[in-house]
Amino acid sequence: MGNVLVTGGAGYIGSHACKALKAAGHMPVTFDNLETGWQDAVKFGPFEQGTLLDRARLDEVFAKYQPVAVMHFAALSQVGESMSMPGLYWRNNVMGSLNLVEAAVAAGCLDFVFSSTCATYGDQDNVVLDENSAQHPINAYGASKRAIEDILRDFEASDGLRHVIFRYFNVAGADPDGEVGEFHQPETHLVPLMLDAIEGKRDALTIFGTDYDTPDGTCIRDYVHVCDLVDAHILGLKWLADGKGSRVFNLGTGHGFSVREVIDHSRAVTNRAVPFKEGARRAGDCTKLVSGSARAETELGWSPHRSTLKQMIADAWKWHQTGHYDQ
Ligand code: UFG
Repeated sequence: MGNVLVTGGAGYIGSHACKALKAAGHMPVTFDNLETGWQDAVKFGPFEQGTLLDRARLDEVFAKYQPVAVMHFAALSQVGESMSMPGLYWRNNVMGSLNLVEAAVAAGCLDFVFSSTCATYGDQDNVVLDENSAQHPINAYGASKRAIEDILRDFEASDGLRHVIFRYFNVAGADPDGEVGEFHQPETHLVPLMLDAIEGKRDALTIFGTDYDTPDGTCIRDYVHVCDLVDAHILGLKWLADGKGSRVFNLGTGHGFSVREVIDHSRAVTNRAVPFKEGARRAGDCTKLVSGSARAETELGWSPHRSTLKQMIADAWKWHQTGHYDQ
């Protein structure tokens, strides 16, 4: 137990991780530039504003809190944006992470939990992706995350940096207590966009592509509840503290849902019509991303008990109606 430096702790997943860390007896120290995060979401420990591109600022924060571990969430994470602005993704995600890793090593903080993504696998015709699947990202976001995975491996070899890499599938849902939730500005993710459309806060949802090689023509994703996801991070910290060594884990459920199926579930959960229209494909989207998630369950003892699509949409819907951050 001790201080854990949480980069991106003011963001969607990072804020849920801070809540879980505090509940597990750790002190989460949020480091965030507030470009996509919200100061209102920092509720469970101290806050330090800063950018990962500022090495001196990172050194200052490591010296002040002397964290026992790092959880690294801070990143730009929009697939579409990464296709039009790859330089932004390489600079922010890769150079920022390199600074963070070097600062952690310099401070002697050698336990590192990293949020990577299934987007590192790329498009691999209808296979269930496990941790040994080849990584061929088809967008700059996925490529930037794969590069960071390589950085971690190199610093393990040179400096003994122990790391757990979590490759997330599609994260959804919100804290059932309503303390934190998903709020992006602008929003690009399917579930919150759909809930906005249901409430008339924005125009009809556009389905990005109906001509994919899937049963109903729309993309298939494996959705995982944000609370289950952060539970895995607590187990990952313990894994490292127990000296079990560096490891990669997928975090998904092994069940894929098409965009149309997500719409159908949303209609059932909210009992409201979902206004939608059919549109063109979005650049960089894979046809199908479904996790082989056995490793996290068998080795970490992870059990994603909130990750039914209905539960995720219900928790997101509750947050959508009651929670918000001041803009
Ligand atoms: N989609 C639509 N319309 C929208 C928004 C999304 O049809 O308005 C579709 C997308 O094409 C995709 C699915 O809904 O098929 C999910 O899209 P999201 O934007 O919610 O999520 P992504 O799959 O693009 O990206 C998310 C995370 C990434 C992660 C990736 C892996 O944002 O960080 O999952 O798939 F890498």
